[in-house]
Amino acid sequence: MRSISCLVFAVFAFITIVQAEVFDITNFGAKPDGEISQALNDAWAKACAAIEPSQLIIPKGRFLLNVVEFKGPCKAPIEIKIDGTLVGPEDPATIPKGVQWITFSYVTGMTLSGSGMLDGVGAAMAWATNVPKAAVKATLQYNLSFNFVKDSLITGITTKDSKHFHVNLMTCTNVTFDNFHVSAPAESPNTDGIHIGWSKNITIKNSVIETGDDCISIGDGCESLNIEGVKCGPGHGISVGSLGKNTGEKPVIGVNVKNCTFVGTENGVRIKTWPDSQPGEVTEMHFEDLKMEKVNNPIIIEQEYCPHGECVKEKPSLVKVHNVYIKNVVGTANTPEVVKLRCSTANNGCENVHISGINLTYDGPAGKAIQECHNCKPVYEGELNPPGCTPAASAA
Ligand SMILES: *[C@@H]1O[C@H](CO)[C@@H](O)[C@H](O)[C@H]1NC(C)=O
Ligand SMILES: *[C@@H]1O[C@H](CO)[C@@H](O)[C@H](O)[C@H]1NC(C)=O
Ligand SMILES: *[C@@H]1O[C@H](CO)[C@@H](O)[C@H](O)[C@H]1NC(C)=O
Ligand SMILES: *[C@@H]1O[C@H](CO)[C@@H](O)[C@H](O)[C@H]1NC(C)=O
Ligand SMILES: *[C@@H]1O[C@H](CO)[C@@H](O)[C@H](O)[C@H]1NC(C)=O
Repeated sequence: MRSISCLVFAVFAFITIVQAEVFDITNFGAKPDGEISQALNDAWAKACAAIEPSQLIIPKGRFLLNVVEFKGPCKAPIEIKIDGTLVGPEDPATIPKGVQWITFSYVTGMTLSGSGMLDGVGAAMAWATNVPKAAVKATLQYNLSFNFVKDSLITGITTKDSKHFHVNLMTCTNVTFDNFHVSAPAESPNTDGIHIGWSKNITIKNSVIETGDDCISIGDGCESLNIEGVKCGPGHGISVGSLGKNTGEKPVIGVNVKNCTFVGTENGVRIKTWPDSQPGEVTEMHFEDLKMEKVNNPIIIEQEYCPHGECVKEKPSLVKVHNVYIKNVVGTANTPEVVKLRCSTANNGCENVHISGINLTYDGPAGKAIQECHNCKPVYEGELNPPGCTPAASAA
């Protein structure tokens, strides 16, 4: 008798522990087509406080979500599994100013997985028809933000939005995006796919990013970024910068872009800095095994980045660009200047730029494919089509 009750107790205790580790939002009041921020907050509070590794489950189905912050630190690693679709609010004013749609902050050891979809909002388009466009632009904050997130993995999820969807990483360390999909239409303005700032050891791999602006943009203070097996397009390609606009910007050290494909993008890989700028540094850039299909500027260093005439081009950029390794870049371009190295007149221009093995063709009315060099004398190796800049061309 005693041993049976012991066994019953043991089984009961075991079930309790197992249940304590899995938090399904439908057990916290979430219903399909209902708004779930309260349920998510409650489930997160429990999961984050769990002392054993826990799972927060958003099952298949369509759920409305106004705004949520998943805030740590948590007691143990957490997996958030999203198999359903989370739909943002129709009225963007629902998201308070300065707050993002979905934020993860101060979380370590998180896995965000599932086959789910984050739908920034389709309805905002309809909503936008009866308010001025500028007002919509000012209020839309459909960002997925990661702030102070460490040792985490984001995999499987698709994000989609009719307008203004960004993934924003600030002050993150050792975060991997694997098999991640960002989709926004080409005409959506300023929708960087993934923006990374002040972060270290970030990996983005096996992912597809379709957007209206930069596929991936890299701000100051980034170190050791690995971008591998990413397909970009439409959009503006992978961009380091723009840099040099603000005082106290930290260097960008170590960006590896490997085995990526760019389809119909404005740029392939780009480094851009403002003229008349604050000092800064970009170094250890490795761009390798890249495929371009009908890309406007497959390889571009632009140190006079000055959109809308917002600056004085006469004064050079003080951002030092050096140690750039470009290797095995092939495909087609929409402009004859398939390699554009427009470096600053300050700091001896771009130094230690290596180009080996490129085959970029231009087939259009504007002439033959060429490489263009200003204040930069690349070290060339291997097959080069088009040939490298002649010494005459490398004088500014
Ligand atoms: C969303 O993220 C982008 C970076 O991708 C950033 O420039 C923008 O300011 C963010 N939006 C808001 C409303 O914070
Ligand atoms: C980096 O994060 C991964 C999870 O993506 C984790 O498995 C690994 O242990 C972390 N590395 C370090 C050095 O903490
Ligand atoms: C850097 O990221 C890789 C890939 O996630 C991981 O294996 C490694 O442990 C990380 N290193 C550090 C120092 O975080
Ligand atoms: C290159 O990236 C693609 C995904 O775009 C992947 O399927 C392929 O395995 C990668 N190749 C190598 C050699 O890593
Ligand atoms: C360069 O690429 C073109 C197609 O874009 C191809 O026909 C040609 O064979 C390639 N040249 C070399 C040397 O690989």
